[in-house]
Amino acid sequence: MIVKPKVREFICTTAHPAGCAKNVRIQIEKIEKEGMLTDGPKKALIIGASTGYGLATRIVTAFGAKAATLGVMFEREAQGKRTATPGWYNTKAFENEAKAAGIYAKTLNGDAFSKQIKQEVIETIKEDLGQVDLVVYSLAAPKRMTEDGVLYSSVLKTTGAPFTNKSLNLKDNTISEKTVDCANEDEILNTVKVMGGEDWMDWMDALVEAGVLASNAKTVAYSYIGPELTYPIYNQGTIGQAKKHLAKTARDITEKYADKGIKGYISVNKALVTQASAAIPIVPLYIAIMYDVMKKQGLHEGCLEQMDRLFREKNLMGEPKTDESGLIRLDDWELKEEVQTEIMRRYGIVDSDNVKELADIEGYWEDFYQMFGFLVDGVDYEADVEV
Ligand code: NAI
Repeated sequence: MIVKPKVREFICTTAHPAGCAKNVRIQIEKIEKEGMLTDGPKKALIIGASTGYGLATRIVTAFGAKAATLGVMFEREAQGKRTATPGWYNTKAFENEAKAAGIYAKTLNGDAFSKQIKQEVIETIKEDLGQVDLVVYSLAAPKRMTEDGVLYSSVLKTTGAPFTNKSLNLKDNTISEKTVDCANEDEILNTVKVMGGEDWMDWMDALVEAGVLASNAKTVAYSYIGPELTYPIYNQGTIGQAKKHLAKTARDITEKYADKGIKGYISVNKALVTQASAAIPIVPLYIAIMYDVMKKQGLHEGCLEQMDRLFREKNLMGEPKTDESGLIRLDDWELKEEVQTEIMRRYGIVDSDNVKELADIEGYWEDFYQMFGFLVDGVDYEADVEV
């Protein structure tokens, strides 16, 4: 069938299989050009491996270090005329590429929060890999069902007081003020339950207990801090509370498994257009302005470049370079003074009339459509494709 994008605000309900496959190919080629990592993982478990930062980590470790990767994702297969989700197509494409290159790649599609998936992962590691030396926790989920059947839902709200600021209307690229409400205690607790570190620790406990983690293994989860401008909605919002819990969990993992030399890290990444970030109010305008500023200053990176730097420059698998709080800072370029000063200047004056000059609206949407396999160079969108 011929697949066209169907966009509703921050989500596209269709995905293009050939476009997703081409995206994966392009990323692999970029990594192959960079050359091999000198200190990469050998066998990696990647939880949240199908899109965004998780997929980029998978491509960097597999094609930059020939690492065997076991991925976990929560994606929907195609049904009749309904296309699969992009993560499903990305993963099929990635597995085909890995197979052709003689690199082990397997993926389990199911709920990472469940005991069942953890068990299946453990069995697969035992059968195929023995042990893993890297666990990447790259989940971005709206909900979590715990084993006792309670469903927790995360919210994207502030915690102190409501916050009003300029926002990009994704329907028509105009600028207007948007107010983000303040969460109550229950909503904060729910968000921490979903996006905090409790499930990460459950994973680590289960893997250690089953003996499938190599001694001196590393584990990393991804976080965001951002500039003061977005503090009320991110760093000091409900998601920020969850990320603080995630950071504490990294320290707890290192302490708990010190005898095995297992270390937990947080990598603070750059804000980028992904399915997760597009849903956060106010953030898309910040991202669009930041894209333009960073591109003009020659500092722009995508998920792949960030993850490449995590291993190559920040040395995740050796002695990682961290700040004084023990965090790996891949947001170092985003937070450079010259970048932030220019973003703040533009944020102050941006309106519906000048937004196209001050923000990279085109780049924002290009990233957005490409996430779903559209607007990818060299793909024939008029051709019939098998979904
Ligand atoms: P994404 O939406 O592209 O990826 C989420 C991944 O989690 C997908 O592979 C999806 O299949 C998987 N997933 C979701 N729910 C699942 C479940 N119940 N069971 C199994 N798999 C599940 O998101 P993105 O942006 O790559 O986020 C990954 C992490 O990076 C998150 O912790 C996010 O907060 C963090 N991060 C994102 C930034 C951004 O700007 N996008 C910036 C800094 C950190």
